[in-house]
Amino acid sequence: MRIDVLTLFPQVFESPLSCSILKRAQDEGIVEVVLTDIRDFATDNYRKVDDKPYGGGPGMVMMPGPVFACFEHVQKLSPEKGRVILLTPQGQRFDQRKATELSKERRLILIAGRYEGFDERIRIGLDAEQTSIGDYVLNGGELAAMVIIDAVVRLLPGALGDEDSAKDDSFSQGLLEYPQYTRPEVFRGMKVPDILLSGDHGKIAEWRKQQAIERTRKWRPDLLEDSK
Ligand code: 6GU
Repeated sequence: MRIDVLTLFPQVFESPLSCSILKRAQDEGIVEVVLTDIRDFATDNYRKVDDKPYGGGPGMVMMPGPVFACFEHVQKLSPEKGRVILLTPQGQRFDQRKATELSKERRLILIAGRYEGFDERIRIGLDAEQTSIGDYVLNGGELAAMVIIDAVVRLLPGALGDEDSAKDDSFSQGLLEYPQYTRPEVFRGMKVPDILLSGDHGKIAEWRKQQAIERTRKWRPDLLEDSK
């Protein structure tokens, strides 16, 4: 998969992309992430990318010119058309289902905005879908884009060392994950459940499923409602 990110703050992405699973996935050619600085496509001497809103009001709005020029440049970097996603709190909420859907694409083009928002003609002109990561306001779309990259890349074949490890994750079956234990067998008086030491894999699988359902009912009953 190729992921292009259009942003005013490419540095925001550098540290998360240079660690752990995301680093390895890039090193192994499972994903290529290309950061492009929208400011490089400003047309005036001050490298201006935002301006006051028509009609008045607080804050600044991302100008269409630099975003369009940046987008047109980026799109030509690869023959694949790609799925164009604008990061904005106005978008549909990102979830595990969406992550799975996006993980099947060959190319994503993520556009992160700053300031009070995008000039409306960016959304219309680029025919972009809009995505939000939750009902709260961030200073910009960068962290949201990073969340999406993280959630999508771990679903790509080969990205996790153990091919099975994504399928038991919370949400992947519409449930929270079952409880996990590792050594020692007793820690500060708390013992690992006997069933996990029993070696009976059928019983263990059954117990885990039961635990997942119970925890979901207790902590996230809304997930059980959603799956009906
Ligand atoms: Cl995608 N952008 C911003 N600015 N805030 C958000 C968001 C995106 N998703 C949730 N909050």
